[in-house]
Amino acid sequence: MSSYVITGVSKGLGWEFLTQLSANSDNLIIGIVRNKAATDTRVKDELPDRNNIHILEADMTDYQALKAATDKIPELTHGALDYIIANAGVYTDYDAYTAIGGLANDPEGIEREILMLTKVNVIANIHLFNLLIPLIKKGKAKKVITITTGHADLDVVIKHDIEVAPFYAASKAHMNLIVGKFSAQYKREGILFLSLSPGAVDVGKWGKTKLTEEQAAAFGATAQKFMAYAPDWKGPITPEESIRAMLNVIDKASIENGDAGEFLSHWGNKQWL
Ligand SMILES: NC(=O)c1ccc[n+]([C@@H]2O[C@H](COP(=O)([O-])OP(=O)(O)OC[C@H]3O[C@@H](n4cnc5c(N)ncnc54)[C@H](OP(=O)(O)O)[C@@H]3O)[C@@H](O)[C@H]2O)c1
Repeated sequence: MSSYVITGVSKGLGWEFLTQLSANSDNLIIGIVRNKAATDTRVKDELPDRNNIHILEADMTDYQALKAATDKIPELTHGALDYIIANAGVYTDYDAYTAIGGLANDPEGIEREILMLTKVNVIANIHLFNLLIPLIKKGKAKKVITITTGHADLDVVIKHDIEVAPFYAASKAHMNLIVGKFSAQYKREGILFLSLSPGAVDVGKWGKTKLTEEQAAAFGATAQKFMAYAPDWKGPITPEESIRAMLNVIDKASIENGDAGEFLSHWGNKQWL
């Protein structure tokens, strides 16, 4: 039996992690969400009879709530834990279609956005890992995965002039570095920390946002840059494809293979699309 704690399983990639991993009745899946009642209902409706799913409630930015939720895990997992998948994260329209200078007239908004992104995409995961490392040490797999993005690859940003999403990208690059620091400390105890990008995935939002003319132009320009970066890219993949590919990478990744603290794509390399 393998045990997993996955954050943000209410929808999107987190829901698909929950769906695919719980299909194996030998796995025990603990999902952390902001609204337990809503996710319990979704599980009951869409994944009935999966007795291997437990949903706990916490806003990831509320340390006391997160601690109260993680305190319930040892009794569910007999005091050990094999995998953490830190999937919960935010990406907003505030900077999604905007270059950094385009926000120059909004200093308060910039500060608010960076602080919010840092709380959710970075600080919450630091607390999550600190709270659960004692259980991971007692687990068999000892793998801690953080979902990141190819937007955080500085080489690609500067080579292809990827202007949009500056603050989101920086929050994920920040977390990648933190993953490296956790790895530096815990690799010697056999714990693999890994930052893993899902690719560009349509979780139901792709093409649905009503864009201003300016945003649409930025979106088009970014798509062209993506095509220049990956000429064979066919557009976003499905959550099903992304999770299947990431689970394959998670399965193969090991400290022995040199993956400790790495920043990899769903292909298991640095090809982000
Ligand atoms: N989709 C992509 O193309 C893509 C590409 C690169 C990276 N990613 C990363 O993949 C991860 C999942 O994204 P997604 O596309 O599946 O997005 P999504 O559909 O918006 O799902 C985000 C999940 O995170 C949860 N969450 C957000 N803030 C939270 C908080 N403060 N406390 C607890 N849970 C919180 C959400 O819960 P609620 O339901 O309560 O809002 C939701 O379950 C994120 O880390 C994202 O940055 C996605």
